Amino acid sequence: MTTLLKFIHLAAIAVWSGGLIVLPFLFRQRVGLVAGPELFRLHRFVRFIYVGMASPAAFIAIASGTALIFLQTTFLEWFSLKMVLVALMVMLHVVAALTLAHLFEPGRSFGRGAYLALTTAYLVLITAIIWVVLAKPVIDSDQFAAALFTPGGLGQFVREILGETRIPMP
Ligand code: HEM
Repeated sequence: MTTLLKFIHLAAIAVWSGGLIVLPFLFRQRVGLVAGPELFRLHRFVRFIYVGMASPAAFIAIASGTALIFLQTTFLEWFSLKMVLVALMVMLHVVAALTLAHLFEPGRSFGRGAYLALTTAYLVLITAIIWVVLAKPVIDSDQFAAALFTPGGLGQFVREILGETRIPMP
């Protein structure tokens, strides 16, 4: 069961990561195109990569990863670090959606700087996540947050950083 889930997890991650890495390149192809068959074809293709491939793969990767938590002993610091990096990857997945939502409006384009920044961010994040999962670095959270893995420890850690900020209860 674990092997099958890991297979599904890794296959979904390959499709998700590949989709994210190729998207900025496809956004860049918008430059110089005016309304016409070529622009509509690019729009359809980019939408297919985002809506038909990368997003379902992200959903499957997250669902299979969540199931794996219950089968593997992952209650260690490296896994928390992985989750922080995955959260950033999900946020950048949304950045691609926000870009796509307006890119094909008249007069829009995708600059070289944005192309390089987004591609680099995806590559760095994906490489970092894969390194963390495969190297499983030993991180001693006692050194910077002694109570992190005790019940309520995360809240205490955040309060130590932010001060005694509390959400007012009605
Ligand atoms: C919410 C999202 C995710 C969750 C909950 C999750 C969870 C997990 C868990 C529990 C494992 C098994 C760990 C172990 O072997 O001890 C695993 C394996 C793995 N995950 Fe994820 N994962 C997620 C997303 C990702 C992403 C985005 C990547 C890469 C970009 C990734 C890459 C890997 C790899 C390479 C393995 C295999 C590690 C091995 O077999 O040694 N995961 N994941």
